[in-house]
Amino acid sequence: MTAVELVGVGKVFNPGRADQVVALTGVDLTVESGQFVSLIGPSGCGKSTLLRLVADLVPPSEGTVTVAGKPARKARLDQEYGIAFQQAGLFDWRTVQRNVELPLELRRASRSERRERAREMLDLVGLGDFARHYPPQLSGGMQQRVAIARALAVHPPLLLMDEPFGALDEMTRERLQDELLRICARTGTSTIFVTHSIPEAVYLSDRVVVMSPRPGRITDVIDIDLGSRNEATRQSADFFAGITEVRRALRGTEVAA
Ligand SMILES: Nc1ncnc2c1ncn2[C@@H]1O[C@H](COP(=O)(O)OP(=O)(O)OP(=O)(O)O)[C@@H](O)[C@H]1O
Ligand SMILES: [Mg+2]
Repeated sequence: MTAVELVGVGKVFNPGRADQVVALTGVDLTVESGQFVSLIGPSGCGKSTLLRLVADLVPPSEGTVTVAGKPARKARLDQEYGIAFQQAGLFDWRTVQRNVELPLELRRASRSERRERAREMLDLVGLGDFARHYPPQLSGGMQQRVAIARALAVHPPLLLMDEPFGALDEMTRERLQDELLRICARTGTSTIFVTHSIPEAVYLSDRVVVMSPRPGRITDVIDIDLGSRNEATRQSADFFAGITEVRRALRGTEVAA
């Protein structure tokens, strides 16, 4: 089963105007069910735009976007995916528990189902003891974990993440990477993950998609085969080889641009 398929996708912002931007051109990308795919590339190359197209937050100028075998719009209405962006985007006046319940409320889930699911997700991200706290009472990393719990609350088959760990310290970040992989493996979730960090992309991904700017396009897709990740992975020769390969691919885009 294919989780996401983009065929011949292009995006032009403000077409025909002086401030026209060709953000993406000729993007073909397939994400198989259960796969973890990272997008990496220089600032402004269209990573967030690509994610927004999949989420149906902006329409493509050309090409087709299919999510879970449906047009992107239908997939959005059916809540086929969860989204976590760089800013946790929590509601400060809602408890942690009620933030995680929000997508379930939108789905009109019963109160008991909402509670149960939110507790399950908070336990999964290690925040079961903080359900009654409010977001401002949590650290940045904890808030990010709440946002991830919220994104996972409806058990979406697909997770879209835009630099979700960008603001975190290295140790928290590595721990959350492991948590995320564990959650994805346990729930069978497919993921598209935007990052600026080469080691993060290599560690997390089955495939790293390298993009170049102006106009944004996919220049390389690098398969990563590190087996199941653990502490030793980050020191392994294969991990460093993957990093070198992605770095080379990114350098290539610089020269081309
Ligand atoms: N709503 C918009 N209106 C006009 N132009 C936009 C809009 N959103 C993005 N762009 C333009 O599209 C291009 C790609 O932007 P995008 O945010 O997708 O880049 P990015 O790869 O996510 O960059 P970064 O790594 O800095 O987050 C940029 O040139 C940006 O100015
Ligand atoms: Mg971005």
